[in-house]
Amino acid sequence: MKVLFVNACMRGEKSRTLILCRDYLQKLKEKHPEAVMEEVDLNQLEFELQTGDVLEYRDALRHADDFDNEMFDLAKQLIAADHVVVGAPYWDLSFPAALKNYLERCSVDKLTFVYNEHGVPVGQCRAEALTYITTSGGFIGDLNFGFDYIKGLCGVLFGIQKFYFASAEGLDIVGADIDAKLEEAGAKLEEIVREI
Ligand SMILES: Cc1cc2nc3c(=O)[nH]c(=O)nc-3n(C[C@H](O)[C@H](O)[C@H](O)COP(=O)(O)O)c2cc1C
Repeated sequence: MKVLFVNACMRGEKSRTLILCRDYLQKLKEKHPEAVMEEVDLNQLEFELQTGDVLEYRDALRHADDFDNEMFDLAKQLIAADHVVVGAPYWDLSFPAALKNYLERCSVDKLTFVYNEHGVPVGQCRAEALTYITTSGGFIGDLNFGFDYIKGLCGVLFGIQKFYFASAEGLDIVGADIDAKLEEAGAKLEEIVREI
């Protein structure tokens, strides 16, 4: 079992979201000791935004079925994962831009998805499930655009079937019991691990 952790916790070790992610990954490893854990740390990754020039170059490679270029490495890694964990704080009603940039890199016609004869995309990801972990300053409620987008893209286009969500919310409200909220989210993550 290959577990891919997409780490969009931009505050690094100060991130409360990262605390939840590490907790989840540890529990997952305890349940599946054979699991190989991989991490993509979006704080460390450096690649240019998908500008017109980058796209043109990428399309030329794609049309030539030449997927050896390193610009396709992230997509290949995502396709090969058996379980995907995305950790991202709730920023501006969704998630940090670095995660969108990563997803643009991964979203490659002929790699992450192919079109069938009816023009319908068929996802190529091996993973059955993706777990999305977040924390927020206030309350997310119905404005869960980050998770909703992930479900849309990774479900419709990449072929991942099942989505789990855990959050610790209201962390920036004055007087909030942050430890208790993180613990509560940890209990939810434990439930998710039981299903994986
Ligand atoms: C750039 C930025 C945007 C944010 N946008 C929101 C927001 O739209 N709604 C909200 O409730 N909290 C927002 N917050 C607060 C964070 O969601 C909250 O502090 C979260 O716990 C940060 O996660 P971290 O500790 O993992 O970095 C924002 C924080 C930052 C830095």
